[in-house]
Formats: sequence, structure tokens, C-alpha cells
Amino acid sequence: MTQAHDQLVPVPDAAVAGTSCTLEQYREMYGRSIEDPHGFWLKQAQRLNWVAPPTRVGDWSFDPVRINWFADGTLNICFNAVDRHVNAGRGEDIALIFEPDDPVADVRKLTYAQLLEEVVRMAGTLLRMGVAKGDRVTIYMPMTIEGVVAMLACARIGAIHSVVFGGFSPDAIAGRIEDCASDWVICADEGLRGAKRIPLKANVDAALKKVSVRGVLVVRHTGGEIDMTEGRDHWYHELSQGVPAECPCVTMNAEDPLFILYTSGSTGKPKGVLHTTGGYAVWTETTFRYVFDYRAGEIYWCTADIGWVTGHSYIVYGPLQNGATALIFEGVPNYPEHDRFWRIVDKHKVAILYTAPTAIRALMREGDDWVTRHDLSSLRLLGSVGEPINPEAWRWYRDVVGKSRVPVVDTWWQTETGGVMITTLPGAHAMKPGSAGRPFFGIRPQIVDNEGKVLADEDKNVAAEGNLCITASWPGQARTVYGDHDRFVQTYFSHYKGKYFTGDGCRRDGDGYYWITGRVDDVINVSGHRMGTAEVESALVLHEKVSEAAVVGYPHDIKGQGIYCYVTLKAGEEPDDDLARELRNWVRTEIGPIASPDHIQFTPALPKTRSGKIMRRILRKIAEDDYGSLGDTSTLADPSLVDGLIAGRKNR
Ligand code: WTA
Repeated sequence: MTQAHDQLVPVPDAAVAGTSCTLEQYREMYGRSIEDPHGFWLKQAQRLNWVAPPTRVGDWSFDPVRINWFADGTLNICFNAVDRHVNAGRGEDIALIFEPDDPVADVRKLTYAQLLEEVVRMAGTLLRMGVAKGDRVTIYMPMTIEGVVAMLACARIGAIHSVVFGGFSPDAIAGRIEDCASDWVICADEGLRGAKRIPLKANVDAALKKVSVRGVLVVRHTGGEIDMTEGRDHWYHELSQGVPAECPCVTMNAEDPLFILYTSGSTGKPKGVLHTTGGYAVWTETTFRYVFDYRAGEIYWCTADIGWVTGHSYIVYGPLQNGATALIFEGVPNYPEHDRFWRIVDKHKVAILYTAPTAIRALMREGDDWVTRHDLSSLRLLGSVGEPINPEAWRWYRDVVGKSRVPVVDTWWQTETGGVMITTLPGAHAMKPGSAGRPFFGIRPQIVDNEGKVLADEDKNVAAEGNLCITASWPGQARTVYGDHDRFVQTYFSHYKGKYFTGDGCRRDGDGYYWITGRVDDVINVSGHRMGTAEVESALVLHEKVSEAAVVGYPHDIKGQGIYCYVTLKAGEEPDDDLARELRNWVRTEIGPIASPDHIQFTPALPKTRSGKIMRRILRKIAEDDYGSLGDTSTLADPSLVDGLIAGRKNR
């Protein structure tokens, strides 16, 4: 099982000094978290401020599926992220630093006291608009301070936020508004990415032609021209005039919903993953604290967007509950030039950088000069998330960016897990390039084969490769799919009874390190964004000229995986480059730019079994340019089709 790159990179000395967790402590704490989860999590929970401290801890079952944590506790997560720091005399600490898209535009810094003022103003404005506890509020915002403030303001008044990434189309927004019956939208006039304007309000207007809401709160950001609908749309700077200077935090039960976040699965439309308040608060506070080993005064920068779970847990709730200083960046890594990230690290003296392999690979390709011309000596820790990181990119990240002196944490987790599940801890674990590492406190990974036979359990030190399950609940686990608990049960708990199935393949080596090998379902990971192949297929077949479509992932140098579409046209339609372009744009408008197909291959038919099932395995192999192992094609209704598909692929 040992592979060439499967070697231990020792913990740098600098990481051990002052660490919150050494290897010995990790072992002791991990052991305790498994043997006595009640005592362990009750102790972690004490770092938070509770209105009524919990006496109950994990109360859950995976069969039937029912998950509760800290269920008799009450608290408000916004209070924990903002107010309590101010109350404790840390109001002058910097909470957020905003680095705009335009590198010469003004940086904005907000202390915790100022953040509190902003959140109170937004919360008061939401109340004035009519938002009530339990209402769903759709947030469609650029990466600005107001995006973070909008989330915290919802949490403050007990409204459930549903953040929709700014790269999603009007149709995608409408679908998400409809699914959770959201009555309210918070958006900005426009966003900025690499000097391009993103028409956020116009997209919301287009979405609201299909579904209706009671109110839209519009934050002025670029000052661009937008339309306002009388009675429905309100400018934030107008409606917030004269709102009370105080807005108390609503006391929430630990199991009251905090947010919904839509994520792609292997079938159907995106699911509204639901997270609740208390467990998520404890989980994000604890994981941030130990994984990033945060030290007072440091600048922490997570390059994700608040539209993804990484932004929720590690731009907003994790760092702010820890009283950290978090940098938020509106722009993109290559604007105005390929050194934007390194400029920012230098300019703000960033100590902890948390980004995605796709960004690392894209920047690596531009050459080391962009990096080495900047002073990156402030960096103390590097993090990676979103997809498996190839050892080459890992080494570049550590050696060129981190000058071989800082640890890299490769954090494996999911929207559904709320926070980091498998990672090395910076002062505790030697690293292996390409391996996420070891389970976080309380996490019990298990590797099973397709039939459910257990191949490796965390407490038995064996090597194995198979499908990754988690056998015990943890505080940050998603509780349900909003409005569809059956789908939650079906998706995550039906493959292997009594276990949470992650959808990921995984190898565990003899040292107990976990290596995520990628999705084993029909989900592809494009630039760290989860995309259901079924979603892209449904978008394609909505086009009037398309008869059928099958979409698969294939290895892509920068994005990790690219989107490969096989398309058959209706009788009489002619395939050509113009149509391919048109279809690509079509998918962009249906789902959003993030779902843009990388390649469209027209084919007279799709390979199917005699019972009519599309043979995706074959399509995947062909897209991967791997024809030697197509396997048995004799079950195909028309085996001759395969030659044509291969010829088409080679012509690319
Ligand atoms: C993948 C993002 C390998 C994995 C936090 C997972 C990773 C999916 C890693 C979740 C990693 C995330 N190594 N694979 N460090 N991190 N993944 O819900 O396939 O957007 O199931 O959450 O990303 O994506 P999601």
C-alpha cells in the first residue's frame, strides 16, 4: 500500500512552539473524545456563552436517523461570534479586514465593536422589513463585509439564512428560494470579480419573475445602475435609517435551525442541507481553534466564498467565535496579476492561509517568480480544502509559498459535516503530501467495501481501500435535508445501515493516515465545487435541440475535474462548433458559470445496456482518454458505438 510519495514530512519546530495541541495531547484528547464523548463535548462547549448551558450532549441514532446535540442548551451564535468579545473588553480587536477587488481601492477594517454596530443595524433593518424568527432569508452577496454581516444579522434574530453563491444563475436562485419557501432576499447591486461586474440584483430580479418574495434588501456596493421594484425592494442605506441602536440576540434552542446551504448530489436537484445552532457552534469553534492553532493577533485568511460551506464555517462562524481577525477578499487570484494572493499576504501580514488545490495549481503554473518577489515571512500555517491535493501541488505550496518551514493542513470535510473531519493538526502530526491525515476529535471513520463489509476501522490499525463512512455522530453534523428528511436518510444512511456514508472513496494506510481518492458517486468536483452530473444533464436536455445527454468528470490539470458532456441531438439537428458553444452558454445560464461544460462531444447515440441504462463507466473511461480498460462492452445494446465515441474523443 505504501506509495512513493507516502512519506512523512515532520512537524516543523516552529509549529510545535506554543501549539494548542502536541501529538501526545492529540492522542489523549482523541481517546477521551471517543471513550467519553459526553464529558469531552460538554467541556468543549464550555468555551461558548450559553443562555442555558446544556446538560445533554450527543443524543442521536443513525437508524432511524435522528440527530441532536446539546438539546437542552440555549444560546445565540451571533452573540458568541460578536457580542461576547466586545463584552469581554476585546471590542477594539480587529474582526474583519476587507480587501477589495481593485488592489488600489480602500481596505476596510472593522473592529469587533464596529462589527457589532453593523450587525445590529442590519438585524434591526431585517426586523423592520418584517423578517421573523424561523423565516428563511436568501443571501446573494459578493464577498464583502456586508455579506458576513447579513449572515450574522439573520442568526441574531433567529432567521435561517440560505446563502446562494454569486456564481449561480437566476434559475438556480429561483429554485433555492422556492425549495425553502424563502420570503426574503438580501443582495447587493453588483459584485466585482477581476474588474468584471456581477449583476447580482439583476439576477435576483430575473429569479423573482419565477418566484415571489415579500421583500428584497439591497446593499449598495458598486453604485451600478439597477432597477428597484416599488413595495418589494428596499435600499439598505435607506431602510436602516433610524433603526434602534440595540437589537437583542434572540435566544435559540441548540437544535433550532441556523442555516440551509444547497449542495449537489448524485441525483435530482440540489439538497438544502440543514445545520442547527448549538452543535454547529461548538464544532466550528473547536475545529477552528485546533486545526488552525490560532494565536491572538494573527491575521487569518480563508480564500473561499461565503456561498460555500467553507465560507460559513471558516470565514464567519469558526474565526469570529474565536475572536480572530479574518481577512475577506472580493477578487480573484489572478487579477490584476498572478501574484495577487502573495501581494495580499505580504500587504496584510497574513499568518494563516486557507485555500483550495485548484487555486494552488493555477498559481503554480504561472511560475515561482510571482511568489518569491514578495515577503511571505508572516505565514505560519497553510491550509488546503475542497478536493484531494496532488502531491506535486502540495510540495509547491509548502516549499515555494511556505518556504518549507510551515505546516500544511489538508482538511477533508463536507457541507454535511459542518466542519473539518480529517486533518493533521499543525503542532501534532507529521504530514504526508496528498493525505488529509488523521480524524479530528470525536470522528470515527470506517472504510467499507461496496457490500458494506468493514475493511478498516479507526480502532483497528489496518490498511485498506474502499468507501468512507463515519460511524458515530459529531456536533457539527447536518440534521436533515430541509423539508425532506426521507431524502436525507436515503442519501446518507441507506447505503450502509447505521452509518453515515460520505460519498467519497478513501484509502487508509498502515500509519492510520486517510487518503481521499475522490467521489464514488455521480458527483464531480470542479475547482473544489461540487456539481451533480444529473444537474448538468437536466440543463442540457432543456435545450430544444438536445435529445439526450450524459455528463461525466475527467481529470483536468487546474480544476481537478472538468465537465465532459456527451450530447445526442434531436433528428434533423446538425452538430457543429456553434451549437457546442451555444450549449455551453445554455448551461451557464441555466445553472451558472461554475457549471460551464469544458467539453461537448456530439454522438449519434449514448452507450446503453439492453435494458436502456446509460453505461457511464464507459463514458467516463473515454473522457479520461483511457481506452485500454473499457471493460466488458458486450452488454451494450450497440457495441459498435464505442469506436465512434473513441474517435470523437481523439479528435478533440
Ligand atoms: C471533497 C467542502 C480530498 C470530497 C468543504 C468531499 C476533499 C467534497 C477535501 C465536499 C480534501 C473536500 N481532500 N477531498 N481535503 N475537502 N473534499 O460539500 O469529495 O463543497 O466529499 O465541502 O469535497 O465538498 P463540499
